[in-house]
Amino acid sequence: MAQWPKPAEGSWTQHYPELGTAPISYEDSISPEFYELERKAVFERSWLNVGRVEQLSRNGSYFTKDLAVANTSLIIVRGLDGEVRAFHNICRHRGNKLVWQDYPREEVTGSARQFVCKYHGWKYDLDGACVFAQQEGEFFDFDKADFGLVPVHCDVWAGFIFVNLDREPRQSLHEFLGPMITTMEGYPFDQMTQRFFYRATVGANWKIFMDAFQEFYHAPILHSRHRPPDMAKAYADAGFYAPLYKIEGPHRLVSTAGVPEWTLPAEMLSPVAMKARSGLFGPWDAPDVGELPAGVNPANCDPWGLDSLQLWPNFVILIWERGWYITYHYWPTSYNTHVFEGTLYFMPPKNASERIAQEVAAVTFKEYGLQDGNTLEATQSMLESRVVDRFPLNDQEILCRHLHHVAAQWVEDYQKEQAR
Ligand code: FES
Ligand SMILES: [Fe+2]
Repeated sequence: MAQWPKPAEGSWTQHYPELGTAPISYEDSISPEFYELERKAVFERSWLNVGRVEQLSRNGSYFTKDLAVANTSLIIVRGLDGEVRAFHNICRHRGNKLVWQDYPREEVTGSARQFVCKYHGWKYDLDGACVFAQQEGEFFDFDKADFGLVPVHCDVWAGFIFVNLDREPRQSLHEFLGPMITTMEGYPFDQMTQRFFYRATVGANWKIFMDAFQEFYHAPILHSRHRPPDMAKAYADAGFYAPLYKIEGPHRLVSTAGVPEWTLPAEMLSPVAMKARSGLFGPWDAPDVGELPAGVNPANCDPWGLDSLQLWPNFVILIWERGWYITYHYWPTSYNTHVFEGTLYFMPPKNASERIAQEVAAVTFKEYGLQDGNTLEATQSMLESRVVDRFPLNDQEILCRHLHHVAAQWVEDYQKEQAR
């Protein structure tokens, strides 16, 4: 515990002097030019999480992932040798999107022994080799071995599949993640195979939504509006203070305390929560997840609520005290739009009440997510007015400050490299 900086010893923010304490500009979230730079500097050079190994349950299982931010679509596939690989989803003959079903712009999942192009029937093995070209003899100076799928760097940590679109990634995935993240290894992510998935198109820059989920300063206000007035006032008066913020390289972590919902007075709980024994913090009756790895609950909070790991650039893992986890992905589609994906993962339910408790956690998450999402377009639209360009961030908003700092840093590094 003593190794962590504590507010009593100075503010969280002041422990990271490179961040400064000055008001920040949100120009990075409203500028089409900055977005173009960010695409190249960040999304085409960083490790990006595209899913979990459980989505590739058998040899031959695949899914596609469309990355508008990098102008491409990927195929992620478990080969017949069990290896997970990634390729650009483009046929080497005349550029057709190789894997899709009814709608070319929709992502698909499936299983195959080979990929066959719909256009002229070229075939590719799951390791990317071109193994058949229709009327091969009609081509000129042609060797199909030269026309394999274009590979993308792909690696797996704790069952999370990452890709890197850079020609030569500057760091291995493990180096990139660093100890703060890799000490979470050993958490039973692989056993939590019951998934609930939400996707939304949001009219705001991707960082604006990330900010909404990386500070809880808003929680006593924004999430109290549906509460009786005296209770809402009590929440607002109490405010929010996290027991731990930590920053390491481009990644961030916030750990929060939690009040066990079942100990709250009945008037603070919904009838559904009481009946289903579940709520925002998850099912009240938690599964046995065994001993937690060293990195989880790093502040030794008791009662602990959750750890939110913000993996640069656009991936978040939330590990909840009640033995489940959530991931968020923020996929930019333009400087002021993105696609948000929220996925909840639980241990498979053993009976109907466990299933209902998980469903209630999932819809409660959605309700809170909608409350959070509700401000985003309003914020984006007024930031774009540029009437104000300096915004003060408090100590509980340190992670927002860090995200924008890292974005600026990566863009600056990229520009320097380009100028060389
Ligand atoms: S474009 Fe794929 S076979 Fe022709
Ligand atoms: Fe929130």
